[in-house]
Amino acid sequence: MSPLSNPFILAGRRLFTGSLGQRHCFLNARSPRRHSSVTTELMENMDQKSTWDRFYTENNNRASTFKNFEWFFGFDSVKDFIMPLLQTGHHQDVLLQVLDLGCGTSALGLSVYSESSVPVRVTCADVSPVAVQLMQENIRHKAIKARHHSSRVEFVELDCTQLDRYFGSHSLDLIIDKGTTDALLRSREGKGKAALVLKQCLKVLQSSGSLLQFSDEDPDVRLLWLEAAVKEQGAAAVGFQEVGELRGVFYYCYHVTPHPVGQH
Ligand SMILES: C[S@@+](CC[C@H](N)C(=O)[O-])C[C@H]1O[C@@H](n2cnc3c(N)ncnc32)[C@H](O)[C@@H]1O
Repeated sequence: MSPLSNPFILAGRRLFTGSLGQRHCFLNARSPRRHSSVTTELMENMDQKSTWDRFYTENNNRASTFKNFEWFFGFDSVKDFIMPLLQTGHHQDVLLQVLDLGCGTSALGLSVYSESSVPVRVTCADVSPVAVQLMQENIRHKAIKARHHSSRVEFVELDCTQLDRYFGSHSLDLIIDKGTTDALLRSREGKGKAALVLKQCLKVLQSSGSLLQFSDEDPDVRLLWLEAAVKEQGAAAVGFQEVGELRGVFYYCYHVTPHPVGQH
């Protein structure tokens, strides 16, 4: 999966090709800003397991049947950022290892599993046992078919500050983070955890792998944080691309690769 093969912008150059608003639509979008049950108290504690257990319990109780909750937006809005990386990283008969980091009850991981034409093993991991159980029950009741017969998907309760307890070093091809690092960075005591998660991602990613962070944080802020954090881990390249605008809010895809672009 060479970072050279995708259109991400090198942070150092600070170029911006973006404005993909027309290309990506947000029909299923649900912004956290509009979710009435998320109080200030909850927003400040988004690094806490109990916060999310409560969130997913309340969200599930409101509906008569299970419905995926999507932070920011759903898979359709970001699949053009994700799926080409799988194609590029695919070598015959190899099961690509994908992690949906802090999956919640999003359908993103399941969609990667069902839509990927190359074989994938998608692990959807979350610290909230409530979210994980809801997803496990949901897939038990639905026969979700993968495009590739060898593909696998699993939902696991996992604290992503300890990824190396579950995954081997350099074992993952792609890590997708939609809103999880954002949640940690915005919490009163979550900044240290966000740095730890990034460190763990770089440890378990293959050198040719990618970490994608979908976020509404402005590049001026997130790139500074990412560049400082990856510098502590040794070599890694950071880039970003604009995903699009939804109700006045701009969203971005930050791309971290363990080795600098051009040094594979
Ligand atoms: C903003 S939500 C995003 C959920 C999902 N990715 C989506 O797009 O809807 C953040 C998620 O991160 C999870 N989370 C928070 N801290 C975590 C940690 N240390 N390890 C794993 N998951 C965590 C929460 O339980 C929550 O599901």
